[in-house]
Amino acid sequence: MKESIFVKKTEAFLKKLDIDFLKKSFVFDDLDSTNMTAKDLAKTGAEEGTVVIARTQSHGRGRFERSWESPEGGVYLSLILRPGVSCEKTPLLPFVVALAVTKTINTYRIHASIKWPNDVRVNGRKIAGILLESEGDGLTINYVVVGIGINLAVDLKRLSAEIQARSTSLLDELHHPVDYYEFLKTFFISFEHYYEIFQKQGYAKIIDEWKAHSDTLGKNVRVKTMTETLQGTAVDVDQSGFLLLWTANGETKKILSGDCLYFDELDHT
Ligand code: BTN
Repeated sequence: MKESIFVKKTEAFLKKLDIDFLKKSFVFDDLDSTNMTAKDLAKTGAEEGTVVIARTQSHGRGRFERSWESPEGGVYLSLILRPGVSCEKTPLLPFVVALAVTKTINTYRIHASIKWPNDVRVNGRKIAGILLESEGDGLTINYVVVGIGINLAVDLKRLSAEIQARSTSLLDELHHPVDYYEFLKTFFISFEHYYEIFQKQGYAKIIDEWKAHSDTLGKNVRVKTMTETLQGTAVDVDQSGFLLLWTANGETKKILSGDCLYFDELDHT
């Protein structure tokens, strides 16, 4: 799609979309990173419900300082949230977003599941990644930028060999293309639904639904945190979103954030 066509079509689509949550949109043909732009907007006061969308990204960002390869055919967007909840509730936001993405993919009769905390996978391969970046004063959150990358119709051969080996796309799973705008609409409706539950403090419901859609619990996993690498059985996720890991020496470790690898597929995650 040519630059102006994507931008014009997407802007027209968003204008007609009747989603209360969406307040303002910025659409680009190619951007370094929608998260970077959304953070700049958030810092200068952009309101909750602002969305940044790009057709492609030159410097897509992933978790743990990785890059997110973003050729055409993917969904690349960032949402600005100002949740107005205390800091200890924000670790639940990745669960909210992962649920919205998973539910959207499931509407295509594809079984997507979540690897703690928020990787969305189909048949053991990653189909979507989520990166949350926030700023706050330690007590309250100023903003959260929710970045979402989804391999909708990405030609997997355009990804580097390493990423290709552990990725899939909706196109590859379905063997037919999916309408970009229909997908976006379903996602926004789903996100609005789960975010409303979160805003109304339905934290237990978010965790319960997340558990119903995750395949992490019960698995032997290796989790790399900022400071250490832990191994054990993922026994539960508590009401704050901590992963409870039962280690070989009988301890239960609580992990707030980390990179989770499934032990039976360490080469593929
Ligand atoms: C991950 O490492 O799994 C998270 C990947 C998040 C990628 C998305 S694409 C849209 C948004 N903009 C970015 O630069 N990153 C996120």
